[in-house]
Amino acid sequence: MNEPLHFSSKLRDYPVDVRDDGWAAELAAQKGVVAVVDENVWRLHRDGVLAGIDDPILLPIDEEHKTFATVAWLCDRLLERRFQRAGTVLSIGGGITQDVSGYAASTLYRGVRWLFAPTTLLAQADSCVGGKTSLNFGAYKNILGTMYPPHGIVIDPRFLATLSRDDFFSGLGEVVKLHVLGGPEHARHLENVMGSLTSRKGGAVADSVDASLRIKKPYIEEDEFDRGRRNMLNFGHCFGHALEAATDFAVSHGQGVVLGMLLAGVVAGRRGLLGDALQKELEERLFLPVLVSRPQLDESRRERVIEAMRHDKKRSGEGLALVMCCDGFEMRQVNDLTEAEALAALDGLWRR
Ligand SMILES: NC(=O)c1ccc[n+]([C@@H]2O[C@H](COP(=O)([O-])OP(=O)(O)OC[C@H]3O[C@@H](n4cnc5c(N)ncnc54)[C@H](O)[C@@H]3O)[C@@H](O)[C@H]2O)c1
Ligand SMILES: [Zn+2]
Repeated sequence: MNEPLHFSSKLRDYPVDVRDDGWAAELAAQKGVVAVVDENVWRLHRDGVLAGIDDPILLPIDEEHKTFATVAWLCDRLLERRFQRAGTVLSIGGGITQDVSGYAASTLYRGVRWLFAPTTLLAQADSCVGGKTSLNFGAYKNILGTMYPPHGIVIDPRFLATLSRDDFFSGLGEVVKLHVLGGPEHARHLENVMGSLTSRKGGAVADSVDASLRIKKPYIEEDEFDRGRRNMLNFGHCFGHALEAATDFAVSHGQGVVLGMLLAGVVAGRRGLLGDALQKELEERLFLPVLVSRPQLDESRRERVIEAMRHDKKRSGEGLALVMCCDGFEMRQVNDLTEAEALAALDGLWRR
């Protein structure tokens, strides 16, 4: 048995409990608890994992709804139910549910008790910890937000059985990213269980969720407010976010991260920072097994990728920002990536 998972934060400390029992009914019965549930998750799990929750607030789930307007609508629904300052919001869903209901919980009455049960692989293995909530605003993704960790997190592996193939592989992108950041031991362990993971064997998936959270822990605890080490979690995201935006979100977040890690490898290779052997190992044993599709990327889309990278909110300095995995699994962030280098990496990967 692994040690229980517990995170510390300047705002509050919080536990992550892995449970596959009657937690939902138990929490919903507590005084002042209002459940806010992803409408799809409710449809799939109301008679199973979520039995015992009555009349939750159902959240519409898509990026267009990750806005102030939905937060206002949710606050209205909560107040209609006479939700009080001493109440608890129990959120159940993926990253969108986390962002919308977490933002509401962090601002209503200047912050109320908030419990979160993540239901996607991405949210279980990655986004549920770290304490960020984000909303889209106008054309900008995730530009409004608060730092507000949940008071408690419950991970129930039973949710993952109903996840679509695309959402499952999107989550695997973040799992792979975290295992590379974890260093050679974690990365090679993941290589060895990759077959079980991509065929969704429960034990392998649950272990990888647990390991991902443990790897992420020091990054967010030592640098809660993104001043240094936490930036490394952006591995795969520099190109990844840009690919999501340039394809109008046809590329999912996690698949963008996989492509982003492949592209960072091409740049690191060309800069002489990543030798052929490790580059090939990462590509063949970690990145390509979790890549489900490669989007069409004609010239105008490549231009849009570069344009999006110019607007990266993590960018500082003249060049573009890029986090790379270098020899010895050493992670490095550079701020001097040129547009020509970025285009050459896109050409290199898409010509293969
Ligand atoms: N706040 C953070 O730290 C943070 C970090 C990473 C990502 N995010 C945000 O998270 C969002 C992506 O999150 P996500 O990938 O979890 O997706 P999501 O919340 O958009 O859910 C993806 C789809 O899966 C469905 N779904 C959820 N759980 C399911 C289940 N158990 N079975 C079947 N279907 C299920 C949803 O209804 C939705 O259709 C993005 O908006 C991203 O910006 C936030
Ligand atoms: Zn991510």
